[in-house]
Amino acid sequence: MTIARVDPGEVGSLRVAPSILSANFTTLGADIATVESAVSWLHVDVMDGHFVPNLTIGPPVVQALRATTSLYLDCHLMMTNPGDYLEAFRDAGADGCTVHVEVGGTNALIEQMRALGLRVGLAINPDGAFSDVEPYLDRIDLLLCMTVFPGFGGQSFLPAGLEIARQARAAALANGWELDIEVDGGVDATTVVACTEAGANVFVAGSAVFNRPDPAEAATAIAESARVARARIEV
Ligand code: DX5
Ligand code: ZN
Repeated sequence: MTIARVDPGEVGSLRVAPSILSANFTTLGADIATVESAVSWLHVDVMDGHFVPNLTIGPPVVQALRATTSLYLDCHLMMTNPGDYLEAFRDAGADGCTVHVEVGGTNALIEQMRALGLRVGLAINPDGAFSDVEPYLDRIDLLLCMTVFPGFGGQSFLPAGLEIARQARAAALANGWELDIEVDGGVDATTVVACTEAGANVFVAGSAVFNRPDPAEAATAIAESARVARARIEV
């Protein structure tokens, strides 16, 4: 059965993307159902045990998710060799894939994602420099600025990651580039304020959503906090 996919939303609009890394894997479908009314994106953390010191999930799980949810599947590939798996993720039902700039071969990976019909994401670690991603900003759909070092959920927010978001948003505005700027790691209803002020508009939250008694309410609180922060900026 093919499930209709939700509209991913306009580029630049505020969105919360719950990370399933903090969900209960034995009841994944039910956990996702708890946030479906509150969000349009789901963040899928793929870790390979090489690029990061942790192993998580791969295309078979994405395929299982695709069969149960219409949410936009935002796949964050923390992998040394993402190019070997992009087609498998696309075939499994990923909507967008994000590769890390640190693994190199970025131009080829961007072209490969485009050719596969995936939305194109590029991620950078919090100790990276804006100049590492700047050459690609006119060709990608999403820049993911890590606000923790990737590998594990539940880490403390690192504001240093926001400097790249700030510079990327300024460059996007100056050049008229349509770009989603996503932040990932330690994002909750409090830290999302600084993220929004830095120009981010997609907020990944794992523990701040799935480790709460009411995940939908928690996701809505993060979105509301971002909305208030953006309204303040726009005044
Ligand atoms: C970290 C992952 C994150 C993580 C976020 O490597 O990329 O997506 O799951 O989890 P929290 O929101 O708990 O920091
Ligand atoms: Zn992630």
